[in-house]
Amino acid sequence: MGCFHFIRERNRYRKRRASAPMPSSVPMYSPTSNEVTSRSEDSTTAKQTSKSSGSVSSQKSIPELYEERAHNLRVFELKELRNATNDFSRLLKIGEGGFGSVYKGFVKPPDRKGDGTIVAIKKLNPQGLQGHKQWLAEVQFLGVVEHPNLVKLIGYCSVDSESVPQRMLVYEFMPNKSLEDHLFNRAYPSLPWSTRLQIALGAAEGLAYLHEGMDVQVIYRDFKASNVLLDEEFRPKLSDFGLAREGPSEGHTHVTTAVMGTYGYAAPDYVETGHLTAKSDVWSFGVVLYEILTGRKSMERNRPKTEQKLLDWVKAFPAESGRFSMIMDPRLENKYSLRAAREIAKLADVCLAKLARGRPKMSEVAESLKEAIKYKELDGQVEPLEGTSSVHSESDDRGKTGVASARRRMLHLDMLGEKANVVGRRRFVVMKASNQT
Ligand SMILES: Nc1ncnc2c1ncn2[C@@H]1O[C@H](COP(=O)(O)OP(=O)(O)OP(=O)(O)O)[C@@H](O)[C@H]1O
Ligand SMILES: [Mg+2]
Repeated sequence: MGCFHFIRERNRYRKRRASAPMPSSVPMYSPTSNEVTSRSEDSTTAKQTSKSSGSVSSQKSIPELYEERAHNLRVFELKELRNATNDFSRLLKIGEGGFGSVYKGFVKPPDRKGDGTIVAIKKLNPQGLQGHKQWLAEVQFLGVVEHPNLVKLIGYCSVDSESVPQRMLVYEFMPNKSLEDHLFNRAYPSLPWSTRLQIALGAAEGLAYLHEGMDVQVIYRDFKASNVLLDEEFRPKLSDFGLAREGPSEGHTHVTTAVMGTYGYAAPDYVETGHLTAKSDVWSFGVVLYEILTGRKSMERNRPKTEQKLLDWVKAFPAESGRFSMIMDPRLENKYSLRAAREIAKLADVCLAKLARGRPKMSEVAESLKEAIKYKELDGQVEPLEGTSSVHSESDDRGKTGVASARRRMLHLDMLGEKANVVGRRRFVVMKASNQT
């Protein structure tokens, strides 16, 4: 079904743009969704988006921009990537997500002279129905965008002559895994407060660029801790553009799509209606802000019932209350600014506003984070209330992990090697209407 739908889309798009050539091995595909003007949303969203850096005013689509800009993408032969990964050796596998396995590899320059580069190669699982379409979306979006907080796509490989069609993506290698690994996997030392803030701000700036910083607005649609990769200095870069969509064009408030994303991160209004706006990403950002503060995942089934859903649990500890510090990650060992943490929780709360129009723009989120980062004192502390037991079931872990420097963590990561693979299990694809994308 997925493939059939893709061919239909492609033909439709080809008819529209028969004259526009694309690199021979990348079929054409328009990631533009059905656009709908909703009278149920007020004009605020439309006003805000059209005001923002021309995000929705441009006539150019992602495929057009791709044709203009993506000449730097390298087209790899399957043989080259087999060599680069020792024939996709399990020993070089560094991760696995919903779309396939990720390998560390070493590729030579195109002219085979000079130094090679260490890369990450994502090999899409040919069984996945959505795989090909998401591979195309990733090539086209990452071929167009350019920002220090977005992962760089070096090239791709597309082969149909093998018994099973092969699709691969070749990225710059991010040596420090993902934010998810560092927040939730106890094999890694705890992330210090300042690093958490740096990651939150960088990720916000990456999203703000997508929403407001280009000729076309891009809605990321899958913002979560595992898609925030970390470079050698723990600077964040967003990866995984397989679910990205162009935002609504002028005069439209949202795009209507099949509901896709990850449980625990997708905005409830989007899940309910399929109406996608940049504010859906803002919701997901709010979820990750709480994950950064608490060191807890948006959904944890092995917790007591009242603590399983992070957003429900934190409601009992409002940002301005005396109980607030009890939600803070015990692995921070109180080394955080209580004032900054309160500000960030308040910011998360507005990102999580029930009505999309009540949520801030990502550029505003980034500005608020910059303000919060100004509070440097590390005076955070748990203020136990009488008769209230600790909310942290892992409080015994305190003191064992310690706060390591970025350098020490890098050494530690080297030692961990490829053992700490995390399999993405939580992505969902809810086809609300099978004829929608
Ligand atoms: N460019 C990269 N550099 C280094 N490691 C990477 C890179 N891209 C992905 N990885 C590793 O591979 C893992 C799996 O990534 P992937 O995006 O396939 O799955 P996921 O994000 O965990 O789950 P999902 O399928 O829900 O997105 C990442 O968590 C990361 O550890
Ligand atoms: Mg991912």
